[in-house]
Amino acid sequence: MEFLDLPPMLGAAGSVRLPGSKSISNRVLLLAALAEGETDIRDLLASDDVERMLEALSALGIEWSGAEEANRYRVRGVGGPFPVKRAELFLGNAGTAFRPLTAALALSAGEYRLSGVPRMHERPIGDLVDALRQLGADISCLGNEGYPPLLVRPASLRAGGVVRVRGDVSSQFLTALLMALPLSGVETTVEVVGELISRPYIAITLELMARFGVRVEREDWSRFVVPGGVRYRSPGTVFVEGDASSASYFLAAGAIGGGPVRVEGVGVNSIQGDVRFAEALAQLGARVAMGDNWIEARAPAEGRLKAFDLDLNHIPDAAMTLAVAALFADGPCRLRNIASWRVKETDRIAAMATELRKVGAEVEEGADYLRVTPPPRLCPAAIDTYDDHRMAMCFSLVSLGGCRVRINDPKCVNKTFPGYFRAFAQVVRPVPVIAIDGPSASGKGTVAAEVAAALGWHHLDSGSLYRLVAHAATRAGIALGDEPRLAALAACLPARFEGGRILLDGEDVGDAIRSEACSAGASKVAVLPAVRAALFDRQRDYRAAPGLVAEGRDMGSVIFPDSALKIFLTASAEARAERRYKQLIEKGLAASMIDLLQDLRERDARDAARTVAPLQQLPDAVLLDTTSMGVAQAVAFVLDLARERGLEIRG
Ligand code: DC
Repeated sequence: MEFLDLPPMLGAAGSVRLPGSKSISNRVLLLAALAEGETDIRDLLASDDVERMLEALSALGIEWSGAEEANRYRVRGVGGPFPVKRAELFLGNAGTAFRPLTAALALSAGEYRLSGVPRMHERPIGDLVDALRQLGADISCLGNEGYPPLLVRPASLRAGGVVRVRGDVSSQFLTALLMALPLSGVETTVEVVGELISRPYIAITLELMARFGVRVEREDWSRFVVPGGVRYRSPGTVFVEGDASSASYFLAAGAIGGGPVRVEGVGVNSIQGDVRFAEALAQLGARVAMGDNWIEARAPAEGRLKAFDLDLNHIPDAAMTLAVAALFADGPCRLRNIASWRVKETDRIAAMATELRKVGAEVEEGADYLRVTPPPRLCPAAIDTYDDHRMAMCFSLVSLGGCRVRINDPKCVNKTFPGYFRAFAQVVRPVPVIAIDGPSASGKGTVAAEVAAALGWHHLDSGSLYRLVAHAATRAGIALGDEPRLAALAACLPARFEGGRILLDGEDVGDAIRSEACSAGASKVAVLPAVRAALFDRQRDYRAAPGLVAEGRDMGSVIFPDSALKIFLTASAEARAERRYKQLIEKGLAASMIDLLQDLRERDARDAARTVAPLQQLPDAVLLDTTSMGVAQAVAFVLDLARERGLEIRG
């Protein structure tokens, strides 16, 4: 399973150009295909769902050309039903392609098979099929009744009249019907049965149909009259707005992580309902501003986001972002009227509840609501994404809680936003790490401690963890080559670091783990991959605001490869042996220069030769040779570099 590890973030600020709206892109493509004339589409979204629609249009005889890099496409419309009368379409998990194409094909007098990924075959389409059957369409469900895959066959259609369609499962059924009906050539009235959900999406449909020359008369949200004898006509050029649902992650990032974060591509004039996410965010106390083509969000002037209890039926997709924003609220939050989540890319209510619990929230899950109680502290977790792009994007926000988070299968964002994590990285500021790696007794411990003190940052002496494992193993009578038992010991090492003291089971072992025997033991246990793996997360948990100075052998290579500054601190073996010798003598301990030198050389060789995380100077590390340099000079060298790299220096 692929994953992406996001480090804890200090905050978020900046601006992002949004990819095109998925809802608008796929609607415009279909309308352009059915319209008379050629349509020039700008800023079309480049994503999996749009790919599926483009492939389907090709298979149905529509000529289009375009360049993904330029996000510019030309579609030559056919001015009526699809010309290809026999086709098999695979539509992935793209609801915005599957539903409207089903309706358009039912009115195209041909034989078509439509299928998708297994999840698509679990997503209901029966209400749309029922409505189309009322028109005389011949559609069979090839698997379970009411679900894809579907077979559409030519049929003699009824002329006009009234068609009834359910509106309370997915608004896409109504959208599909409305967009297809002009193909029938006769006036048809659509009556919505049940309360129409996700209304803003119907508004997008009507607005785009009007741009292509077909005006639907609407009475409330329950009756829609599609005129007869009309044809779609290309409006020439169509600009696709930025995706308002995709905007929600960045706006939430601004509200949680300080901000301001600005999204470009949607604004006050947007036809997408999800821009109203900004209003919801403002109700949580975030400071929100909007222009013609941008929206910006900042954290509340003081304190956390406010707890909320909101009906979110009008913004079902962006509402998921609020479920994660609830983790940052000052009390329990309730998301109401979100039953449609259950039939989306995954059962989003269940998925959201499960994953929110992983980071420590208390969650109550109802048929159509979620209640989220934020934890006092978020815990690191590996988030499953259920092949749902929005799960992946939502949970990236956890990193703004000063908490690392792993996103499993991050590529699922390709459905609507292939560049999401790059865009996210543009606006967030990771907790900075200075990695100081180098051989034993090079003085990196002292230098790291002083750099950390000067910056007011945390300090990780990773070598002491390996020393502690060796020490605890010796005490417990575990052989230093017994990998499974050593790894088990490392995984729950009862060690604490308190004000310069190192405690094992409450006992101060600071001096004991510095003994030569323990040093040699540490270097032996450090060779074992399972021991290193067991200490992996523990080391990464030291990364916390305002920053971390981490020293060891593999800080820059394995534990914090994204360190803002990597130093390779070394000194000649003779110089290191001499320093160690002085230390031991000062402590009144017996020492021999010859033994120390030999011992150091052996440890260097072992650390450098091991297959896992060997000691090495990375190409992106700065060499600091302290053979003839004092501690103060070495510290100044590191601090200068930190300043040059723009790291915030206290004092
Ligand atoms: O830095 P130190 O001398 O305290 O390290 C003790 C041993 O632990 C050393 O032999 C190498 C090993 N070590 C390691 O393998 N990886 C680290 N990140 C730190 C130390």
